[in-house]
Amino acid sequence: MKPVILVTRKLPDAVEDRLRRDYDPILNPDDALYTSDDVIVRAKDADAILPCHTEKFTADVIARLPERIKAIANYSVGYDHVDTDAAKARGLIVTNTPDVLSDATAEVTIMLMLGAARRASEGERLVRTREWKDWSPGFMVGTQVTGKRLGIIGFGRVGQVVAKRARGFDMEIHYHNRSPVSPELEEGAVYHATPEDLMPQCDVLSLHCVASPETIGLLNAERIALLPDGAIVVNASRGVVIDDDALIAALKSGKLTAAGLDVFNNEPDIRPEYRELSNVFLMPHIGSSTKETRDAMGFRALDNLDAVFAGEEPRDRVA
Ligand code: DGY
Repeated sequence: MKPVILVTRKLPDAVEDRLRRDYDPILNPDDALYTSDDVIVRAKDADAILPCHTEKFTADVIARLPERIKAIANYSVGYDHVDTDAAKARGLIVTNTPDVLSDATAEVTIMLMLGAARRASEGERLVRTREWKDWSPGFMVGTQVTGKRLGIIGFGRVGQVVAKRARGFDMEIHYHNRSPVSPELEEGAVYHATPEDLMPQCDVLSLHCVASPETIGLLNAERIALLPDGAIVVNASRGVVIDDDALIAALKSGKLTAAGLDVFNNEPDIRPEYRELSNVFLMPHIGSSTKETRDAMGFRALDNLDAVFAGEEPRDRVA
């Protein structure tokens, strides 16, 4: 008998083909967004769950999962939607999909930086609405990023790829991380022991830290005040790392020139001010959304499940 896997969202065809070959999957062909109760009911006969970050596994949900569930193999690198302490306490294996989405997320980060710096939202709207009437030297003047300083908080896999791509714009890289990385990984990037030390060095600040109790609201009013006037903020990690009140105030006051955001608190029901501000370049959480990466995320989640059901330690175990 093949293990039964509850798959909470519609996955790429190639991933679902492999699921059908190796497992007995319960699929979601309509890509309905399940509530926690839906997940619990559908998991009744499952041996494992393959969810996305759109499904929350709080301690309460984990306590209500059927006894036979062995693993939660996430289709995401972030796993802040899973209470890993509760999972550990119950003996549930939890895995994620690191590495495979670093390039795609770094691409979106660079797009956010350029979109914010070069006023992409405003320009696109002008063209689409036929309000674009003329060219003049003072028209749509933005910020050049070439040769500027890029500060990165969270110098892990994604942050390091962002640094590599930004070097293509001759940017000087500064970073803050819990601890410095090796000189080979730094490639000349300058380490700052605290976010406070890093802030004054950032013409552009890009956030790549994991969402955790320590990073909630990390970019707050006090830290924004330490950024150079006119800095640009970019976030392709998780919305919770930004204090929205502080960021919105700084974008309105001109303390910050612009922001590029792919992730939000309480997405997709984001703070309405972001929609109104012309100096914000907005994307709908698409960091990993390329064909190559979405396939690779599915295969990585399946590699983890294969290990679980072979009685081996999965490569990407986080709990
Ligand atoms: C991730 O992998 O964490 C992306 O944000 C999609 O969930």
